[in-house]
Amino acid sequence: MSDYLRPITKENPYKLCFVCLGNICRSPTAEGIFIHKVKEAGLELYFYIDSSGTGAYHIGERANSKSQSTANAHGVHLPSIARRFEYQDLEEFDLILAMDSSNYRNILHMDKAEKYSSKVKLMREFDPEPGDKEVPDPYYGGLQGFENVFQVLDRSCTNLLNILKEHIK
Ligand code: 4NP
Repeated sequence: MSDYLRPITKENPYKLCFVCLGNICRSPTAEGIFIHKVKEAGLELYFYIDSSGTGAYHIGERANSKSQSTANAHGVHLPSIARRFEYQDLEEFDLILAMDSSNYRNILHMDKAEKYSSKVKLMREFDPEPGDKEVPDPYYGGLQGFENVFQVLDRSCTNLLNILKEHIK
């Protein structure tokens, strides 16, 4: 069994935190998609789902309007309010999913004793399609970039949930 996997029960729900830089585009989209898929599967009581950012620029903000409109067009609601990733999150969550390698390095940098590194993964480790291992930052680009991010995250979340489902007791 991989080190981030454990038996998942209603009494001890599995805790995931999606992390990007601003916590207004990529990680809120991943969070909203994962919540949507968990609800569709009727598994709400087995998961606790959150997102955060390594940067502090947008704390307190709702998801970016282009992220929201893209997600809404696919029937997905983005409930996040931006917050910063904290050391305590390393302890609290079972799986911390970094959107790109910069986010990944910044998270690991907080874990000086390397106590939690096994639960920090790149989101696209779960992308079933081959290619780039980063979720590209759509912030400065057009709508097509937001749609691409949605598609990457949608298929990666499907795969991740299928893996985790196997561990529900
Ligand atoms: P995110 O996108 O990390 O996917 O939320 C960004 C949002 C804001 C900034 C950068 C990336 N920014 O520089 O303000």
